[in-house]
Amino acid sequence: MTAAGLTARRGGPLRGVVHAPGDKSISHRALILGALASGVTEIEGLLEGDDVLRTAEAMRAFGATAERLGEGRWRVTGQGGFTEPADVIDCGNAGTGVRLIMGAAAGFDLAAAFTGDASLRGRPMNRILKPLGQMGATWVCRSGGRLPLALKGGGLHAIAYRLPEPSAQVKSAVLLAGLHAAGETVVIEPEATRDHTERMLRAFGAVVDVVESGSGRTIRLAPGQKLTGAKIAVPGDPSSAAFPLVAALVTPGSQVTVEGVLLNPLRAGLFATLIEMGADLAYANLRDAGGEPVGDVTARFSSLRGVDVPPERAPSMIDEYPILAVAAAFAEGPTRMRGIGEMRVKESDRIALMAVGLAACGVGVEEEPEGMIVTGAGQVAGGARVATHGDHRIAMSHLVMGLASQDAVSVDEPGMIATSFPGFVDLMRGLGGDLG
Ligand code: S3P
Repeated sequence: MTAAGLTARRGGPLRGVVHAPGDKSISHRALILGALASGVTEIEGLLEGDDVLRTAEAMRAFGATAERLGEGRWRVTGQGGFTEPADVIDCGNAGTGVRLIMGAAAGFDLAAAFTGDASLRGRPMNRILKPLGQMGATWVCRSGGRLPLALKGGGLHAIAYRLPEPSAQVKSAVLLAGLHAAGETVVIEPEATRDHTERMLRAFGAVVDVVESGSGRTIRLAPGQKLTGAKIAVPGDPSSAAFPLVAALVTPGSQVTVEGVLLNPLRAGLFATLIEMGADLAYANLRDAGGEPVGDVTARFSSLRGVDVPPERAPSMIDEYPILAVAAAFAEGPTRMRGIGEMRVKESDRIALMAVGLAACGVGVEEEPEGMIVTGAGQVAGGARVATHGDHRIAMSHLVMGLASQDAVSVDEPGMIATSFPGFVDLMRGLGGDLG
């Protein structure tokens, strides 16, 4: 890796058995719930990426103790609530971090100022400010609900909130605020989103009632619940495992196993889609780890064909469309991805950036307001240098593409990969990938 960028070139097959880094969503939640709880929380397998380390720092600023005991092993000692931080909370690149922490902080009688990097300062916070405001929190922020933002919490009353967009971050912000609101908090999600907050609240001793209705859910949280420190084993992140697995699917002769991958159905949409495309993906050693389904996933090189991805699958794979687009580029025929407008408000506008990057690599791609159609021809020319706008998943997706393209693919800002997958380059090199 050079300061100027990182380049992936086609080489031999990828082979090996690796472990995915800890799940980012679960890692943020373990630190935040640990800090909100009374007593000691022991965490194993925490993702030590920049996003999560910012959340650990923020939890210290809100009065908890967060100690690193060893690789991925952390002890958080919570005071049963947050105290007012003495300085601005900088969440870096982390949308999940800032939105969940703001929700949690809103429940307390304190003022706290939040900021982040240029990407995070450009992302919409209105989606959480609306429900938090209905509950009684107040704030000042930049126009359009952008950071920096100063939040005043305390004295909240519970609401029943129907999510206008399928967002686990918004659901979680409302539930965490609801822990310290008067009355029963209800979140209605027309489409189910990742349920790690609900599962982990239970692990910390809270009673959370979930009723499924069609593809949606209603979640109820009674007031006055006390959280008690817990032991949390963080499973491997399927959103990170996706990169070596797709790399194996598109690189001739490859076979890669990623062990300990979270297989929560609300996160496994990519794997279902790849199997529909003809991918040779196999699950083994299926087990329960800390209240979440986990397994080992093996991918072997496969001839893929384009598919129509059902729009209702989007919440279960929203972070995986960039790497799915790469798989689609190596497939035969069109892959239609629709109902994915949320991709435009992630760390970057991921529809726009994937469309530019794929086109630069010679792949047929059509951009739609809320979708993307990638028409694969079984192989990719490559030969491009891609501007990632500081987005880790845009960078990793294009590097995976470069590992199997005819000509090399380079990305700028490879350092941003460390927000979610600090060991990505070493892991891919260990499998035989030519990255440098
Ligand atoms: C996350 C929810 C998703 C996802 C993000 C992590 C979470 O965002 O894209 O990477 O941990 O709750 P939205 O809630 O905006 O869909």
